[in-house]
Amino acid sequence: PRPDQSAPAPVGPTGSHDSRAQSGDFLTTAQGVRVPDTDHSLKAGDRGPTLLEDFHLREKITHFDHERIPERVVHARGAAAHGTFESYGSAKTVTKAGFLANRGRTTPVFVRFSTVLGSRGSADTVRDTRGFAVKFYTDEGTFDLVGNNIPVFFIQDGIKFPDVIHAGKPQPDIELPQAQSAHDSFWDFVSLHTEATHHVMWNMSDRGIPRSYRTMEGFGVHTFRLVDAEGKTSLVKFHWKPVAGVHSLVWEEAQIAAGVDPDFHRRDMADGIKAGAPLEYEFGIQVMPDDGTDTFQGIDLLDPTKLVPEELVPVQPIGKLTLDRNPTNYFAETEQVAFHTGHLVPGIEVTNDPLMQARLFSYLDTQITRLGGPNFSQLPINRPHAPVNDMLRDGMHQTAVHTGLAPYLNNTVDGGEPEVAGANDHGYVQTERVIEGRAVRANPASFDDHFTQSTMFYRSLTAIEQDHVVEAFTFELGKVFEQSIKERELAVLANVDTDLCERVAAGLGLPAPAGTPMEDVFVSPALSQIIDTPGPIA
Ligand code: HEM
Repeated sequence: PRPDQSAPAPVGPTGSHDSRAQSGDFLTTAQGVRVPDTDHSLKAGDRGPTLLEDFHLREKITHFDHERIPERVVHARGAAAHGTFESYGSAKTVTKAGFLANRGRTTPVFVRFSTVLGSRGSADTVRDTRGFAVKFYTDEGTFDLVGNNIPVFFIQDGIKFPDVIHAGKPQPDIELPQAQSAHDSFWDFVSLHTEATHHVMWNMSDRGIPRSYRTMEGFGVHTFRLVDAEGKTSLVKFHWKPVAGVHSLVWEEAQIAAGVDPDFHRRDMADGIKAGAPLEYEFGIQVMPDDGTDTFQGIDLLDPTKLVPEELVPVQPIGKLTLDRNPTNYFAETEQVAFHTGHLVPGIEVTNDPLMQARLFSYLDTQITRLGGPNFSQLPINRPHAPVNDMLRDGMHQTAVHTGLAPYLNNTVDGGEPEVAGANDHGYVQTERVIEGRAVRANPASFDDHFTQSTMFYRSLTAIEQDHVVEAFTFELGKVFEQSIKERELAVLANVDTDLCERVAAGLGLPAPAGTPMEDVFVSPALSQIIDTPGPIA
């Protein structure tokens, strides 16, 4: 094999930092020149002025001036930890991915938890969706599962992502966040784009205010396609189940914590790890047949606003995640880590879900701005733990010193045949699939049912949990200034559950509207059965 041309120094045992950053006993400049005094600038006389000639002053201030990078456009507020994933081997029946298929195999991971809308300095316990992003450093390359703590999403097509985020981010004129102002745009958006209803139901439930990262579920949200060693495919949903169980705050606790300790979640994670109490989750999959329809019992598996109830397809455990090591440096690791839904390994493929398709474009694109050019996969936290031998060259912040004269394949200059891997040699060979149809800007009719799963979710809650949902809607909609927006959201709730709508309307002092008949909308019979059956169905 040709030499490994582009990997910088291998990742050390900590997997995370480059010790060359700080070495030697003396304080030096960036050029390694020892410094006699770092508290006084070079002045003309002891009363100044300061001399431009002071290279130590200039370097120190200049570097400081450029310490900040743009925060993430979403999920800016986050905290992370290192750990290990151990496979149970049970997924071997559906995937050839080595880190899942081999029983007992351990894979290093880095996991970043986040809120979606707040800025880097915002509070942890606000009502929001939580990011649950996992980087698996597998020996077949890096796999990222960039998930959330809510199993569905606001929108069905990624082209609306800038819109839903613009609607939810702080008010553009005075930058007050949603819940603290009469800021109407979030409720305006979700009452107009009713496919958001299911996600909003989860946000307004206790799931929107988790007690701790260690008591949160995680979901891959989209349907993925797994491929086994024989090339047989299955459709799956990924799940993280916290070993400590699912627990939430109550609203009063969340509000107090946001004021008294805005770092409540990151402190809990860091202190727990330091005290020897790792965060633990079981990894699981729901497996559906890949029969060419991309649906299961009437549920469109390409619609990210829909889940597959566990009553219909149980979650099978396939491994365990343990987070037991805090980062060494927040900036180097937590801030610079770059997750991407397109970081896939052989045995794990994507589906046609139009939300996922847009994500496949977005992450690398945004990171080129956020991390200053195209070479951020060379940063220690982003380096694969598999050998890298790409043909990517030069660019801003290139740190690899590439050798050879022919950065292209085939070549006869550097000698040797191209070493390309097929499916039997851990190569990533996409499963062939038929793609046909007219180019259209439209959703399939199977995306039209916006309410059945919202109803199912609400009716699955206990009476106390339902009370919390009613109180959350009443509180949040109570902050809305425009009455027509409140009325439109009440009309949405009328389609979810009459009792829910009436109780929120009463809380707002408004009349409760009637639901809109949805005769033309296809509803999965399996879901109707779950809604109509008290308790879990067989
Ligand atoms: C960041 C999850 C939809 C664009 C993130 C992060 C998570 C996440 C967990 C934080 C990653 C980190 O910790 O660094 C999700 C989920 C989605 C979703 C579960 C839907 C199922 C989308 C869509 C788009 C998008 C549709 C765009 C079309 C972004 C961008 C970032 C981000 C630009 C910032 C990445 C960075 O700066 O490194 N997302 N997201 N997301 N997401 Fe998503």
